[in-house]
Amino acid sequence: MEKGLTSVKALVLAGGSGTRLRPITHTSAKQLVPVAGKPVLFYGLEAIAAAGITELGMVVGDTQAEIEAAVGDGSAFGLQVTYLRQEAPLGLAHGVLIARDFLGDDDFVMYLGDNFIVGGITDLVARFTRERPAAQIMLTEVGDPRQFGVAELDGAGRVVGLEEKPARPKSDLALVGVYLFSPAVHAAVAELKPSWRGELEITDAIQWLIEEGLRVESSVITGYWKDTGNVTDMLEVNRLVLESVEPRVSGHVDAASDLVGRVVVEPGAVVERSRVVGPAIIGGGARIRDSYVGPFTSIGASCTITGSEIEYSIVLPRASIAGVGRIESSLIGHDVEVTPAPHTPRAHRLVLGDHSKVQISS
Ligand code: DAU
Repeated sequence: MEKGLTSVKALVLAGGSGTRLRPITHTSAKQLVPVAGKPVLFYGLEAIAAAGITELGMVVGDTQAEIEAAVGDGSAFGLQVTYLRQEAPLGLAHGVLIARDFLGDDDFVMYLGDNFIVGGITDLVARFTRERPAAQIMLTEVGDPRQFGVAELDGAGRVVGLEEKPARPKSDLALVGVYLFSPAVHAAVAELKPSWRGELEITDAIQWLIEEGLRVESSVITGYWKDTGNVTDMLEVNRLVLESVEPRVSGHVDAASDLVGRVVVEPGAVVERSRVVGPAIIGGGARIRDSYVGPFTSIGASCTITGSEIEYSIVLPRASIAGVGRIESSLIGHDVEVTPAPHTPRAHRLVLGDHSKVQISS
């Protein structure tokens, strides 16, 4: 195919098991946890559409029904989405393997559905279509490279080696979860054997391309990037997105309530005798009564917060919190109920799902 005439497709990885976000991911897809009221996956889909891509393959696993219900045929994003079922989370390169027919001989951007990048991917895609290397990767400096794919660069800044979650990282440059590939990657993927963690690693496929002498370009990004695979990073991304939210009150706020700073009150939400200090979002149909909602908090649709204080947290739809002194830095799942215990005996009464994490301050 002639240079510049290839159509770039997108391959979004939205399967996997999400062990680090348990128990939320026991019942729902980690890519759909809302950040400032919108699933993290949607930010990626918007970035892909903004780069002029329309054909998108979505690799899905056990949570296929939920992802499909949220994304549909992709038309809301200006995309045409084809769902590609992965029978088990056998690795990122396995996602490429099962997408072989969908991808055909086109170039593609592979986007990990739980990654969050500020600044979009338009420039990256443009650079790739201009230069057409076998692969183009993005790197960024991280504090603990052992949790990521790690790149080693030579003096000229060329990638000479890649390792997945190394015990002794050769640099502090982590692979960001957005990769651009020419069809050369299919030969690499076909050669792979499962890694020590039992997965077909895309990192190994890129290493294979390097060893074959094919051109692998990299750029080091300094902008904001997070893999939202754990609660701390999820809360940080929520904070970042809320930083730029525009205030809007579409619900009802009574005269006894106080909204301070940038607060969004979605339609149908009711705020009574409460103080909300932004940036914060109160989801559609939520009820906030006699409560304090502090900065960097996203309250999901149809939640109820009564006589409580909450700050720097994400609360998923339909949860209810009543009579709780103060909640901070928390991710609270769908339909969760948090209520005060009876006065005597003075005890915590808990019904927690598998892998729940609770920190009690008293
Ligand atoms: O976030 C960047 C990192 O992503 C890179 O630095 C690593 O090199 C890369 O291997 C990857 O590491 P993770 O261990 O964080 O990947 P995770 O298992 O979280 O999967 C990333 C996304 O892909 C997530 O949305 C789930 C999805 N997935 C994952 C696997 C293993 C699939 O759809 N199918 C799979 O088989």
